[in-house]
Amino acid sequence: MGKRLNSKVVVVTGATKGIGKGIALMCAEEGAAVVVNGRNEQDGLAVVRQIEESCGTEAMFVQGDISSEAACRQLIDAAVTRFGRIDGLVNNAGIFPRGSMINTTEALYDSIFAVNMKGAFFCSMYAIQAMQKNEGGSIVQIGSTNGYKGGKDLAAYSCSKGAMLTLNRHIAAHYGSDRIRSNWVTVGWVASEGEIELYQNMGISESELRKRGETYIPSGRMQTPEDIAYGTVFLLSDESTQVTGTELHINGGIGL
Ligand SMILES: NC(=O)c1ccc[n+]([C@@H]2O[C@H](COP(=O)([O-])OP(=O)(O)OC[C@H]3O[C@@H](n4cnc5c(N)ncnc54)[C@H](OP(=O)(O)O)[C@@H]3O)[C@@H](O)[C@H]2O)c1
Repeated sequence: MGKRLNSKVVVVTGATKGIGKGIALMCAEEGAAVVVNGRNEQDGLAVVRQIEESCGTEAMFVQGDISSEAACRQLIDAAVTRFGRIDGLVNNAGIFPRGSMINTTEALYDSIFAVNMKGAFFCSMYAIQAMQKNEGGSIVQIGSTNGYKGGKDLAAYSCSKGAMLTLNRHIAAHYGSDRIRSNWVTVGWVASEGEIELYQNMGISESELRKRGETYIPSGRMQTPEDIAYGTVFLLSDESTQVTGTELHINGGIGL
């Protein structure tokens, strides 16, 4: 059986670590040329090296802060310049600082929406324009269980993910005739580098975080970047050409 993403070009935002890195590596293992985005050059180049050495596919790092529209345009332009087209975009880059409805500052709100929503919006916009010139493509929005209501201390984050859920349905509804699909993945709880750091800053160790995950998640463990990547690869692949506008819950049963 051939690899599931053979000859596809996939852009993954926020792929220098965490869930995005896991998705980038699995896309490469499945035969895709991968465009790795993030702000940290050292980490991004390390992911590219890992792909080239262990997967044998092509990869490139495009450094950029996707909270700026210009960086989103440059990311997609760089991918098209190098590979001639893009077939897949994974809107993964995201930040999740805490803040409730009664203590979120304007600066915190703006920073969360700039990355999680504005970045996903403009990366999607430039990806759609590139995909329209070719044979269509697939966009995957990395969402969250918080996108439906959200934890009390995650007010702006939850609203940003809710907006992304609307973005998903909007693209699916209006660009299907261009053979462009969009699907959302509901991520449960992953002990990513970012999540571990956040908990450590609150005085909670990685092992305590994992214990909390085991207790809270019905499946009895936290999800891994690979759990999320399996579903994302399916949504990027030709196995799912009739799948659009959906919400794929990879969350071990949280919120059921
Ligand atoms: N971990 C969870 O439990 C969980 C649950 C639900 C949803 N999610 C979602 O999953 C996604 C990935 O989260 P994660 O847990 O893997 O986080 P992470 O470990 O903190 O990784 C976040 C990634 O995004 C990049 N990034 C952050 N801000 C960026 C910006 N302005 N421009 C470009 N890249 C940026 C980071 O790279 P640089 O530092 O190099 O920029 C990094 O590669 C997010 O959308 C998050 O909301 C996570």
